[in-house]
Amino acid sequence: MKKLIVASVIITCLIIAACNKIKPQSESFLNETPTLPATVYDYKTRTEQLPTNFNPSVTPINNDIATLGRVLFYERKLSANNTVSCGTCHQQSKAFADGLASSAGLAMGKTPRNSPTICNINRQTRFFWDGREDTLVNMVLKPIGNHIEMGIADINTIVPKVQSLDYYKPLFTKAFGDEAVTKTRIALALQEFVGSIVSFESKQDRESNMISFADIYTVDERVGRQLFMVSLPCASCHTGDNFVFGWAGTQFQNIGLEEHYTDKGATFMNSPGQFEMEGFFKVPTLRNIALTAPYMHDGRFKTLEEVIDFYTQNIQAHPQLSGHLQSGLWGGGIFFPSFPGDPDIEQLAKVESNAQAGKFGEPLRFALNAYQKKCLVAYLKTFTDSKMITEPMYSDPFRK
Ligand code: HEC
Ligand code: HEC
Repeated sequence: MKKLIVASVIITCLIIAACNKIKPQSESFLNETPTLPATVYDYKTRTEQLPTNFNPSVTPINNDIATLGRVLFYERKLSANNTVSCGTCHQQSKAFADGLASSAGLAMGKTPRNSPTICNINRQTRFFWDGREDTLVNMVLKPIGNHIEMGIADINTIVPKVQSLDYYKPLFTKAFGDEAVTKTRIALALQEFVGSIVSFESKQDRESNMISFADIYTVDERVGRQLFMVSLPCASCHTGDNFVFGWAGTQFQNIGLEEHYTDKGATFMNSPGQFEMEGFFKVPTLRNIALTAPYMHDGRFKTLEEVIDFYTQNIQAHPQLSGHLQSGLWGGGIFFPSFPGDPDIEQLAKVESNAQAGKFGEPLRFALNAYQKKCLVAYLKTFTDSKMITEPMYSDPFRK
């Protein structure tokens, strides 16, 4: 009996492994040509619904260029073996992440870093976990040339490839006035579509026009919010509408994942010979965070509970650890709105910590109880925008 169980377990594992291997090739659910709506989707109006303090300098979206961008985003022929598209690693149902610690690219090659959500990306000023690119339009062609991701050795070869596909002719004409395919136009279209992927309809977005917190949040969520904003240092970095540092733009911080980082992170900020940055990574948006596991630049944490355990118990004393996470430097979340007149919530969110003036370099520790941990997770889940992940204008037009 035991042998039988063992044998069937092994067989099941083999089948699963085999299926995983053949996944990108088995594309019976995909069409060769895209199906597009008779009237173009209104990307422009949707993006204009973001709150103004998101970054008003972003230019309005052109619907025809975004429509072309959508097809290119899901175009598997932009990869060396015609199996991988941007949408392989940035899946709408997972808020444009992919659920893997390392993404599976060409021939199942593994990317060294975790695929991030790309929602509200054009509100950022630096791209990739290490911020190595500073414009979205330059950034969007990089995955096509990346040998692990889409593997086109000479990026110029995508031009004749796209030219040979008839369904692009009317799309280029509508977007740019004629059917000429150029690398620049491909980049502009990808940028337009990626920039149109916006999230602004989560539960916590309703804060902007609420009368009382109790109108939108459960008690647990309110305790979680108080923990995030006041008892813990989360909002020192994950702040503003997009939960990145500041109102717009992009910041890099060392959160002490390691005492010595192997992946050095944002080295673009180094001044050679003077200061070498180590372990600085982009402060990521927390929008749709419940959908984008696993977490961190290398996908090391499988769940939000693991992330919270790290921030409360396991921050490492890296010499370049952010001041917001040091015992002697964190001033408490006093600048963030508490729940005025709601002493119960404040009480439930009280946390013991080792915060103590003068203790530089020592990582913060917090004694979070099981109820509080549950509440913090409940609050993080209010960042989920279920409209964005089902919005037809972002879906794969090749899907049957
Ligand atoms: C094989 C998986 C894979 C494919 C295919 C892929 N990406 Fe990515 N993408 C990633 C990973 C992994 C990262 C993070 C890499 C890093 O930071 O070094 C990333 C990062 C990004 C970012 C930056 C996000 C941020 O927060 O800075 C954008 C934007 C993006 N990809 C868009 C695209 C576009 C557009 C395409 C298609 C042309 C594409 N990706 C194809 C895996 C992939
Ligand atoms: C000093 C700034 C800072 C503080 C304070 C901070 N974070 Fe972060 N957070 C970051 C950075 C930077 C990363 C990415 C780190 C990496 O991957 O190396 C990150 C990553 C995350 C992630 C994973 C995101 C993803 O897409 O994988 C979550 C979840 C998160 N933080 C939640 C929190 C919570 C909850 C708190 C409060 C307990 C908090 N953060 C406090 C800067 C900060």
